[in-house]
Amino acid sequence: MNNDSLSRAVQKYTAVIVTGGSSGIGSGLIAAIAKLNPSAKICNISRSEPKNNFPDGVLTHIPGDLSQPSQVADVGGKVIDWLKLNGGAGQVLLVNNSGVGAYGFAQDIPTDQQLTVIDLNVRAVVHLTQILLPQLLERGGTVMTIASTATFQPTPVLSVYGATKSFVFNWSLALGNDLKDTKVNTIVICPGPTDTGFFEAAGFSGKPPGVVETEQVIDVCLNAIAKGKKHDICGTANKLMCFFSQHLPRNFLTKEAGKLMRKIRHPDNVK
Ligand SMILES: NC(=O)c1ccc[n+]([C@@H]2O[C@H](COP(=O)([O-])OP(=O)(O)OC[C@H]3O[C@@H](n4cnc5c(N)ncnc54)[C@H](OP(=O)(O)O)[C@@H]3O)[C@@H](O)[C@H]2O)c1
Repeated sequence: MNNDSLSRAVQKYTAVIVTGGSSGIGSGLIAAIAKLNPSAKICNISRSEPKNNFPDGVLTHIPGDLSQPSQVADVGGKVIDWLKLNGGAGQVLLVNNSGVGAYGFAQDIPTDQQLTVIDLNVRAVVHLTQILLPQLLERGGTVMTIASTATFQPTPVLSVYGATKSFVFNWSLALGNDLKDTKVNTIVICPGPTDTGFFEAAGFSGKPPGVVETEQVIDVCLNAIAKGKKHDICGTANKLMCFFSQHLPRNFLTKEAGKLMRKIRHPDNVK
């Protein structure tokens, strides 16, 4: 799809709220939307501030640790104030993008760290969306959630992460159905391995082979908006893999996924 069509598709949003826009996919998405719709007002929520260079007033940063439920409530209130003051009268695009993983055998990862993954990837997504839903319902808009190809199979040595992505994938589809008679739609995007800070933050010692640039994921996100999709998987190979993952026997799939996941970190030590 060309830039004119993408630009037309995002013109309806006068306010864009992105979690985790300080790096990676979120940062790229903010830059792409600002380029396609220079009059949109954008709000980022993350612990650190995005480094994008925009004219004054385009990007507002609301700092917050979304793995802390009390901070989600606090940040949500601030976003509503920001929306009323700066968000224009058009539709709202909420992108639930912040996310982390914790790599390792479950028995070796501190429980608190595993619960943080759930709090950020699941609890905060549902909580923030619920806080902002009245505004979205009044003005119309889109709730886009960044899941993962990890959605479609168990992910040994990244067990909690994969399960959180299955949750948000199904949650987004069901929420979209609940909202079908309103002015709000939902989209869930499943990137495969992408070249961002994700792997380092999750405790991988390197990046898996075949990581793609964030631009490819951002294209899929924007195309999904333009084409009115409810969900999409980034890349043909990932689409095929996810298709087969859903049809293979679960025990076989889990074993093979485990071998693959361990390889990513320990190329010489595949158990
Ligand atoms: N990269 C991949 O291969 C891949 C594949 C599939 C799906 N995804 C998903 O894509 C999304 C974006 O990740 P990415 O790849 O762009 O990784 P990234 O570069 O590490 O970005 C993660 C973002 O999440 C924010 N974040 C982390 N902890 C947070 C917290 N406690 N509170 C608020 N924000 C927090 C970070 O901001 P601060 O550190 O400033 O708080 C950062 O902006 C995630 O949901 C991830 O699961 C990534």
